[in-house]
Amino acid sequence: MCGIVGYLGPLNPKDVILQGLKKLEYRGYDSAGVAILHDGHAKRIRASGKLSALEDKLKSETFNGHLGIGHTRWATHGAPTERNAHPHQVGGVSLIHNGIIENYQEIRQELLSKGAEISSDTDSELVAHLIAIEVEKTQDLELAVEKVLPRLRGAFSIVVIWDQAPQDMVAFKDGPPLVVGLGDDQVFVASDVQALLAYTKKFIYLDDREIVSVKGSQVQILTSQGAPVVKEVVEINWSPEMVEKQGFAHYMLKEIYEQPRSVAAALEPHIQADKHEVQLSTEGLNSESFQELLKKTKRFCIVACGTSFYAGQLAKYLIEKLAQVPVDLDVASEFRYRSPLLEKDTLFMTISQSGETADTLAALRLAKEKGLQILSLCNVKNSTIDREAHIKLYMRSGPEIGVASTKAFTSTLSVLSCLALQWGKVKGLLSQKDENDMVQALLAVPSQLEVVLAYDKYFKEMAHQLRNYRGFLYMGRGLSYPIAMEGALKMKELAYLHAEGYAAGEMKHGPLALIDHRMAIVMLCPQDQWYEKTFSNLEEAKARGGEILALGSGEDESLKMKSQYYLPLPKAHWLANPLLSTIPLQLMAYHLASELGYDVDQPRNLAKSVTVE
Ligand code: AGP
Repeated sequence: MCGIVGYLGPLNPKDVILQGLKKLEYRGYDSAGVAILHDGHAKRIRASGKLSALEDKLKSETFNGHLGIGHTRWATHGAPTERNAHPHQVGGVSLIHNGIIENYQEIRQELLSKGAEISSDTDSELVAHLIAIEVEKTQDLELAVEKVLPRLRGAFSIVVIWDQAPQDMVAFKDGPPLVVGLGDDQVFVASDVQALLAYTKKFIYLDDREIVSVKGSQVQILTSQGAPVVKEVVEINWSPEMVEKQGFAHYMLKEIYEQPRSVAAALEPHIQADKHEVQLSTEGLNSESFQELLKKTKRFCIVACGTSFYAGQLAKYLIEKLAQVPVDLDVASEFRYRSPLLEKDTLFMTISQSGETADTLAALRLAKEKGLQILSLCNVKNSTIDREAHIKLYMRSGPEIGVASTKAFTSTLSVLSCLALQWGKVKGLLSQKDENDMVQALLAVPSQLEVVLAYDKYFKEMAHQLRNYRGFLYMGRGLSYPIAMEGALKMKELAYLHAEGYAAGEMKHGPLALIDHRMAIVMLCPQDQWYEKTFSNLEEAKARGGEILALGSGEDESLKMKSQYYLPLPKAHWLANPLLSTIPLQLMAYHLASELGYDVDQPRNLAKSVTVE
């Protein structure tokens, strides 16, 4: 979704804004622009396409002011052209916007009837018109925003400046995230902290319908009616290096390679390594109280989107198996509109890497309204979902920049495995030996992942063969089924190829008809309780001419004989297999997409953080 940066301070705004926008590229965008004060007016430069096009245009531009805003736009209303790019300017007001104004038709009609000249197809420009009208009357940008905010419906974060007030910057939000960065005699606003880490580690997170009013280096947070709000200043410990590529061709490849470390970091707070015991560590509720809560919980409900949803599916299987608690699982966009029956004694969980996904957040709020306890699992601490949940777990992956989720997924699986173990333990369903074995299995995963990363070279070499397939069917049973779906999602979003993840047992209910020599069958067949059944499905696919790429445990000769390509994974406990089979699927999609010449870090049409529904 769109990226926002605003700056007021002694540095060169052009540099600060461009640096910030580069760090927000991962969010997805199709045009970009800046408005920076020069000779008393905000000079606007915009370009469609990549940020480099804007950068080229800015090379010859100088600015003598110290206030500016910049934006990367992910088109919603209006094509991704320069004309629709932000900032929008009306009567000395320059404005950038992330999100959607739902009542834009009504505002547009009203403005047209008053003779306004509307120069883009966007909903965002209309807000600039409304503020320009109000600021003419009030001669105060903050007051103008207070007048306009109640008129806006939808999801938005907005930053606005005005030529007449070169020391003022005003920002407000309802939905998409907005942070204020505090430096020495300088103030920043941005869509997320990554844009600003090179300049500051001190941040204020805005809540919905709050306004930031910046006057020089003074920052005030106000309610939508203008009453002051006291906010916590949060210090972030991510370093700027953590968001650099560090020599890898893409962020995604770097993030794939980080997984031995990120899985270890995800497990670390929840395991007493010396005793080989699980000890889940939550924030918002201490361990003992959380264990009591688990004990009395009758039902568990997990809601998430995309990759996080597939992780949720694995959690369902694990929790039902180890803790014998019924688990409902929903895609957030369905959950929020399907009148779900939420009973008391249900613990409600949202899983979200970004912590900002609009549908997941709406589901959380719905469950909260019904009085349920909310447990969240996020990667981004202080994200909206993290702040609104009662009990918090963390992925601890560090920043994930590639739009396709990789390390956050394996971290999520790791934490959810610990949750299932803890739940089984408090319910007295786990023997000491089982607990020790499973904890050891999880602790062994980081070093086993180092071995699995060797498939990098393998897929690099075979990418040109893979490009001949017209589609990919990923099959698995039990714990491998969510991984099959996640593998297919990676292939779709990166290589733009038809790929489906299927429960292998469902094959003969339809997908078998798709099979021919141009359909690759990716069969997840580790040695676990589902092995024999999956093996039979593999034979069915082979008998119909399917080309099999099988992932198995160790040197499995039977699987090898039946497959065109066989990938031995380290032999492991069944609990560890999903983590081990994930990485080859990530590498396969990555290398095929690179071979096809696609933008791996920013696949077309996608955004990292989906802050509108
Ligand atoms: C995965 O590769 C995608 N980027 C996408 O499916 C993502 O997992 C989904 O949008 C949910 O995001 P969240 O975890 O930040 O809520």
